[in-house]
Amino acid sequence: MTIQNETLDVLARRATCRAFTDKPVEKEKLEAIALAGVQAPSSNNMQGWRISVVSDKSYVDYLDELSITAIKTNNPRMYERIMSRSGKTLYNAPVLIAIATPRSVQYSVDMDSGIVCENMVLAATALGLDTCINRMVTAGIQGPHKQEIYDTLGIPEGFEFSIAILVGYSEQPATPHIADESKIVFIEDAGSR
Ligand SMILES: Cc1cc2nc3c(=O)[nH]c(=O)nc-3n(C[C@H](O)[C@H](O)[C@H](O)COP(=O)(O)O)c2cc1C
Repeated sequence: MTIQNETLDVLARRATCRAFTDKPVEKEKLEAIALAGVQAPSSNNMQGWRISVVSDKSYVDYLDELSITAIKTNNPRMYERIMSRSGKTLYNAPVLIAIATPRSVQYSVDMDSGIVCENMVLAATALGLDTCINRMVTAGIQGPHKQEIYDTLGIPEGFEFSIAILVGYSEQPATPHIADESKIVFIEDAGSR
């Protein structure tokens, strides 16, 4: 790649963090990240998402505990894997951003929440933060405490939790995965018809 570009550099730099320090995230950075989320495109311009920014670390730790407990019961192999690594699903993150989507919308909600998610991940990366997109926390959020958690996160009636992003500062610089360019095809001449 010969083009030098700030945005492309952010994309290349992003990598999943699985060990966060205790350093809290600055409020203005969280506001900028959340704004990047609601700037996302959406199918039919529905913008149906809800974004909950949880910077109460004790609550993030609570969600981690609930997730571990649920995974231990429902997925023993996954539980063993977690325990053989950090023993955590949320990696000591000081901030969790939850994205919820409306169940009434038939199409593209997962696509829309994925785009919101990546907008926020890239904004966080651009601001010098580290991230982990996290689906494992679903086990805790959708468990027996679901309604209490939805109330705390401000997820309204008719919406479902979709995906979370962990945000903070990494213990060590994470390494981006090797981008496999063999998966790209350029068609410059499609032949005659
Ligand atoms: C939809 C989605 C869900 C993910 N859920 C988790 C998760 O629950 N826990 C985790 O450690 N990583 C999770 N990841 C991170 C992926 O494992 C990671 O993106 C992948 O290994 C590639 O590494 P990279 O992000 O450093 O390029 C998730 C990623 C995506 C896109």
